[in-house]
This record gives sequence, structure tokens and C-alpha cells, in this order.
Amino acid sequence: MAEFFKLSLTQRPRRLRRTASRRAMVEETILRPADFIAPLFVVEGRAAPDPIKSMPGVFRLGITDLVKECRALAKLGVPAVALFPKLDPKLKDEEGSQALNEDALVLRAVRAVKKAVPELTILTDVALDPYTSHGHDGVLTVAGDDVANDHTVGLLTRMAVLQAKAGVDFVAPSDMMDGRVGAIRQALDAAGYTDTGIMAYSAKFNSAYYGPFRDAVGSAQAAGTRLLSKATYQLNPANRREAISEVLLDEAEGADIVMVKPAGLYLDIIRDVREVTRKPVAAYQISGEYSQIHAAAQLGWLDLARCRHESLLAIKRAGADMILTYFAREMAALLR
Ligand code: PBG
Repeated sequence: MAEFFKLSLTQRPRRLRRTASRRAMVEETILRPADFIAPLFVVEGRAAPDPIKSMPGVFRLGITDLVKECRALAKLGVPAVALFPKLDPKLKDEEGSQALNEDALVLRAVRAVKKAVPELTILTDVALDPYTSHGHDGVLTVAGDDVANDHTVGLLTRMAVLQAKAGVDFVAPSDMMDGRVGAIRQALDAAGYTDTGIMAYSAKFNSAYYGPFRDAVGSAQAAGTRLLSKATYQLNPANRREAISEVLLDEAEGADIVMVKPAGLYLDIIRDVREVTRKPVAAYQISGEYSQIHAAAQLGWLDLARCRHESLLAIKRAGADMILTYFAREMAALLR
């Protein structure tokens, strides 16, 4: 084509993008295996991994397979895992009493992983939702119309001490009850676990994108006909200032790492949080974020590999120091 028009420009930003090596030279954000934390689902003694339908490529693992998976992750340079138990529904009750069982599934899993792969950092959720028959993160009030904040926090402190005793590196309160980080810090210190850290789910939003996770751990059903809404404790997705104030509170109460969750839809919050705290910031790319990429890829509408990379890059660019993601293993394998 004839070039009939010429601009006289001082700045031609495209000069920096002309070749692959120039693009590499000016690349600002780079993903690496150590950026990722792998969430893993554990079940009672299974011979084979149990696929989670709404999360392609994700499985519930028996402890033996879990240990193998952890070994593989450590080898790939993934520094940490977050373990989530899926309980037999028969073990669930209104009070979530299995959460305080010294021999609970997740505690046995922690002990096994710590023993086999001591270099791996282990996180566990401190919340009652895998244990309650109604699926809420806390126990309900007598009227049954809300979670009982302070009573729940009391249970969480005991749960956190059991987890620390089993060898967890960071307990991760994920329930959004008021005052839980401070109470857990006190309980850990009183029990002598001053080296056990707290990664607080500080800005955890009441998201519709947790659906596949609730399938995975079986916390989706409402007791009777009551619809499961966590709106009285998880943050309103409309609120930005409130998210920051939750982060600052958790920091004041003793959180070592603060988290924003979900991640991809809340990049503005990740950036805000990065700017108000000097603590490391974690972001959780949740089940729905993972599953929607897979679903679109299955339909042939999006390219899985490129969307996977771009979604994680965006989270890191926004300011996350670490990312919990179900893509952890495959990303680490690709980036090595
Ligand atoms: C609950 C908890 C949830 C997730 C981690 N811990 C979901 C919820 O609040 O129901 C979600 C993770 C995901 O969707 O991947 N304590």
C-alpha cells in the first residue's frame, strides 16, 4: 500500500513493542512459580482422585494422593498449599463440632504432608463451613436468623490452636466474623504457637463465584429450605472503603498477610490494599474464576492457556504478592 501520510512524532511508543526481545526487555510484571499457592481438597481414604464436576482438572484427594500432589508441587517450586476438607455429610451438624476433633481429616492431612514434604508451607482455613450442616461459616443464633459472631470466634480460636498443633504454618481465618484475627492471635500465643502465622481473608466479598467451591466441599446446601446467604458477614461487592477498613483492622489485630478474595473482579481492591498496607497481600483467584475460563474454553470461545496467564498476570499487576489459584501446578510447570 502506498504510504501517503507521514507524522512527525517525537514519541513512537510502538518502538518498544517491535520485536520479542524489545518486548521482553520492557516487561513489567513477571509470573514465577513462587507466586502461587495451590488450594487442594482432601477427602477421607479414597483409592482414586475424585473429580469435581464444576472444576475441570481439580480433584478431591485422599491423604495418600494429597501427599503425592504436595511433593510434585514442591518440586515445581510452588511454596505453599491451602488444604480444604470435604467431610462426609453424616459428620456435619449445626455446631460444626467436627472442627474441634483432634483427629479431624484436615489435621491428619496436615500431619502427613508436613512429615513427607517439610519444606512446603501449609495453610488451613479457620471457618466452620465445611463442618456445619447449614453450610454457614459460623454457628447460628438461637433465633436462627444470623451467625452468632462471638460464640463462633470462640470456636475458631480452638480450631486454630488445633491446626497449629498439627503443624500448620499459617492459619487462614476465612469467615469474616468481627474480632477473629485478634482472638486467634491471642489463643495461638497463649498456647505457645508464636511462630504460627495468620493469613487473614480480610477483604472477602459475598461473591456468586464461590459456587463451584461449595460443590467441592459440599457446603452449598441450605438447611431445610433456608437459602444460604453469607451477606451478614462477607463484604458487599459494592464496597471499596469498607474493604480497606477490614484490612486495616486485621492488620491491627495481628494478621501477618492480608488477602483479597475473589481476585479478578476485585483488582481495584487489590491495588487499594497494596497501597494502604505494608504487609504482604494475597489474592484468591476463586473457583468461579477458574471454572468460567474452563467453561468458555470448552465451548471453543476462549483460549485456555492465554486466559489463564492473563488472568493471573492481571492479579499480580494489580499488586498481589501471592495468588491462591487452582492453576498453580500447571502454571508452575509452564514457568519453570
Ligand atoms: C469459606 C471459603 C470459601 C472459599 C474458601 N473458603 C467459600 C465460601 O465463602 O463459601 C472459596 C474458594 C473458592 O471459591 O475457590 N470459608
